[in-house]
Amino acid sequence: MNISVSITDQSTPKYQQVWELREAILRIPLGLSLRNEDLSRDNINTFFIAEQEGQVIGCVLMEPKDAETVQLRAMAVYNEHQGKGVGRLLVQALEEHAAQSGYKKIILHARKVVLGFYKSMDYRQVGDEFVEVGIPHYHMQKVI
Ligand SMILES: CC(C)(COP(=O)(O)OP(=O)(O)OC[C@H]1O[C@@H](n2cnc3c(N)ncnc32)[C@H](O)[C@@H]1OP(=O)(O)O)[C@@H](O)C(=O)NCCC(=O)NCCS
Repeated sequence: MNISVSITDQSTPKYQQVWELREAILRIPLGLSLRNEDLSRDNINTFFIAEQEGQVIGCVLMEPKDAETVQLRAMAVYNEHQGKGVGRLLVQALEEHAAQSGYKKIILHARKVVLGFYKSMDYRQVGDEFVEVGIPHYHMQKVI
């Protein structure tokens, strides 16, 4: 499969490809667009990208929340590359980086339809269902 995972940020040329991936996988299917959102939080995020032949095929972002906690967000893999372990590779890269950076806990907002993805990586569901981007979500967390 020859997939490489690397760390980048908003300042690199890869940002446009990550934007297109997030738009295609996380917004367009919901009838939404990143164009209508404030993406200023991206400035303080670390971007993890999976690439195949120079093309971004998956991404996840890490946002510092406090001295001990980061939020995993914008987790997306293009449809044709799903189910092949790319998402797991990205989450593992984020977890390793977070641990090396001294963080102790990862939190996230999981879409209800992908709870199983995060549960397979030992994230724990916390609290009641809530709605975000118009669809049901759950808070999840993992101590690392
Ligand atoms: C959710 C998503 C990121 C998973 O990425 P992926 O590359 O397809 O996942 P992987 O192949 O690495 O799967 C890792 C594990 O999670 C499981 N898994 C993946 N998607 C799942 C789902 N929707 N429901 C339940 N389990 C799932 C896999 O079976 C696999 O388990 P295994 O290793 O025990 O076989 C990807 O399907 C996606 O982009 N979906 C659309 C966008 C989305 O919903 N993002 C999450 C927002 S919170």
